[in-house]
Amino acid sequence: MGEDRPRLLGSNLKMARDRQSTMELLDAAVDLSRADDRQFFFFPSMVFVAEAVQRVAGSSVLIGAQMCSTHETGAFTGEVSACQIADVGARTVMVGHYERVKAGETLEVFLEQAARGQEAGLQVLFCLGEPQPAADPADASDLLADAKAIAAGLPQAPWVLAYEPHWAIGEGGQRPEIEYVSTRLAALRAGLTDLGLDRVGLVYGGSVDPGNATALDPLCDGLFVGRSAWNPDGLREICRLTQHREK
Ligand code: PGA
Repeated sequence: MGEDRPRLLGSNLKMARDRQSTMELLDAAVDLSRADDRQFFFFPSMVFVAEAVQRVAGSSVLIGAQMCSTHETGAFTGEVSACQIADVGARTVMVGHYERVKAGETLEVFLEQAARGQEAGLQVLFCLGEPQPAADPADASDLLADAKAIAAGLPQAPWVLAYEPHWAIGEGGQRPEIEYVSTRLAALRAGLTDLGLDRVGLVYGGSVDPGNATALDPLCDGLFVGRSAWNPDGLREICRLTQHREK
């Protein structure tokens, strides 16, 4: 929607894809990116990030990590630092995903992770969303409170905010009404403008599928898709359905 913001299309592969299917999906993305001026971005499983970067080399496709440590370096067994993620050539890191909220992480933790990401030169995609459908969708004060904390708590503005209502995400998620998402996104974008965050990209995620992608895409700067974009045919279909926006 933003005249001066790039259009976006991304996918979080969660822990759902093996090495081969991850690389096949990225091959399809590279192919699609040649005839599409959107910024494509993918968050593969951490163990595939380095290979994914190599796989898309020479294309405009961005690779990122699904999370990073709150620590810069040190004795933190099992964790991966933002510097290590940047060191293998990834360009972005996601924080705040609902599945990390379910794993016990909080906004304070996400702000720490995001700060480490920015210090390492990564662009940050920050997810935010309400736990239950809002009684008054036009009142986005809950989302804006988080956006305000994000703006205040980070050295730089995030690259992208992903509005992902928690109740709409994944297998058990409810498919949202277009009207609801439209109202929420409009209220959120208006608030972002008031906060001076006009340049921050805004994408929608949560039960995006071929049946709702065409209607959802024009409501913001693009879509952040899970299940429906996890195989090359699915990705191509979402891409085709959202490539040209109706005026
Ligand atoms: P979904 O996942 O499209 O499968 O609902 C979205 C997400 O978790 O980002």
